[in-house]
Amino acid sequence: MPGLLLGDEAPDFEADTTQGRIRFHDFLGDSWGILFSHPRDFTPVCTTELGRAAQLAPEFSKRNVKMIALSIDSVQDHLSWCKDVNAYNGEQPAEKLPFPIIADKNRELAVKLGMLDPDELDKDGMPLTARVVFIFGPDKKLKLSILYPATTGRNFDEILRVLDSLQLTAYKKVATPVDWKPGGSVMVVPTLPDEEAKKLFPKGVFTKELPSGKKYLRYTPQPE
Ligand code: BEZ
Repeated sequence: MPGLLLGDEAPDFEADTTQGRIRFHDFLGDSWGILFSHPRDFTPVCTTELGRAAQLAPEFSKRNVKMIALSIDSVQDHLSWCKDVNAYNGEQPAEKLPFPIIADKNRELAVKLGMLDPDELDKDGMPLTARVVFIFGPDKKLKLSILYPATTGRNFDEILRVLDSLQLTAYKKVATPVDWKPGGSVMVVPTLPDEEAKKLFPKGVFTKELPSGKKYLRYTPQPE
């Protein structure tokens, strides 16, 4: 079955992009990566999404995340669309964004990665790509996926928030609770014994008493 599940390795595909031909693993290098798909060039929701993604590119870069978009049109269409996206952002209309856009004209990658939405068809009755987000770790394994229909734009601030959570888990071995925001308390993962948690989190571990008497709700201030 096409598509990617958590823990799967990113396929090492080759593709034409607005910044030349790439091989995906070389493109990712040792960085984290975000691959986000769009239904089509020159469409309204997609244009607002690409505009926001471009504005937030420095935030992704600060977190060592390589960004790459995908849409099922040609490189030439993508380059022309970039001008609209820049103009939408109130900038000079240049044929360039801070990240490449993959040209998947024949939908080969979209099929392979399970990105097509059978309910959203183009004028020829062919399915368009849904709004998929794949986040890969430096080991090139899938850490997170999000799947929205064409008619719902994503929230790129939320994508940054989940990246912060994923990186806290990867580097500090903590989980993040509901509605967590950077700087808020984080949670000790259930598999970590109390003694080890005390050593690992010198700022302290705070356990909330619960009717069950089970001490699983363990908080610690966000590690530096
Ligand atoms: C959009 O980006 O606005 C869009 C694209 C395809 C279907 C619906 C909306």
